[in-house]
Amino acid sequence: MSGAPEDRITEAALASLAATPDARLKQILTSLVRHLHGFVRDVEPSEQEWLRAIAFLSETGRMCDDKRQEFILLSDTLGATMLVDAINHRAADGATESSVLGPFHRDAAPDIGQMDSISGDTPGEPVIVRGRVAAQDGAPIAGALLDIWHGGPNGRYENQDPSQPDFNLRGRLLSDADGRYAFRTVKPSSYPVPHDGPVGTLLQATGRHPYRPAHIHFIVSADGYAPITTQLFTRGDSYLDSDAVFGVKDSLVVDYVRHDSDTEAAELGVNAPFYTVDYDFGLKPAT
Ligand code: BEZ
Ligand code: FE
Repeated sequence: MSGAPEDRITEAALASLAATPDARLKQILTSLVRHLHGFVRDVEPSEQEWLRAIAFLSETGRMCDDKRQEFILLSDTLGATMLVDAINHRAADGATESSVLGPFHRDAAPDIGQMDSISGDTPGEPVIVRGRVAAQDGAPIAGALLDIWHGGPNGRYENQDPSQPDFNLRGRLLSDADGRYAFRTVKPSSYPVPHDGPVGTLLQATGRHPYRPAHIHFIVSADGYAPITTQLFTRGDSYLDSDAVFGVKDSLVVDYVRHDSDTEAAELGVNAPFYTVDYDFGLKPAT
């Protein structure tokens, strides 16, 4: 239909989708057109504003390559990633809640054993992270794989920071026969998401900071269970209530308990002072 008057354009755009053979695609595009037109009617952009929006999205696309995904970052910082995550991983009793994967995961991190360190010579405050992996009814899950990664005390992941060794602060650990796991590392710090691109410009234009609270990432998987992608956040961090990507959930905030006793440290094979974090992961059955 050409020259459709303003109030018939939406109808015409929706009608153009009528013959879409894939029912799900038709549903998605129909909703997209409805919401997009609703947005345009609400905002009534000037042509200059519309071109500015298109230039912003074009710039976002130009910033993407195999190392940098500015569109995911845009989705993250608008809360869309966590909304998709919430819809696909609804909370269930006894199951760990999910959070964003983020851009810094790497496949094939080194395999580590119980109480091994993933921090090598990285200077920082020593931490032991430990707990169990269990089913929702509390039954231990032996041989669950914990894929672990986090940024350094300097706020940088090893693949952003030439001063860190390859695969620093990354490891893959199997839970033992009782579902237990334990590893050593150093305390992570809060850090900014990449903000030298269009998403950074948007954050600045809206008076937002780019920081994420300190966290350790995990993907926990086991045969017969749905894998969980999540993060454990440091209680007391100043950015817990204003995470740039909305990834924090109360159940994922953990205490770093300080220990000053040399005897305790010696028993665990570390030096005092050190911190412990205790967290039990719960997995839902695979669907
Ligand atoms: C991260 O936690 O590594 C992260 C998540 C989303 C966007 C940027 C970084
Ligand atoms: Fe992270």
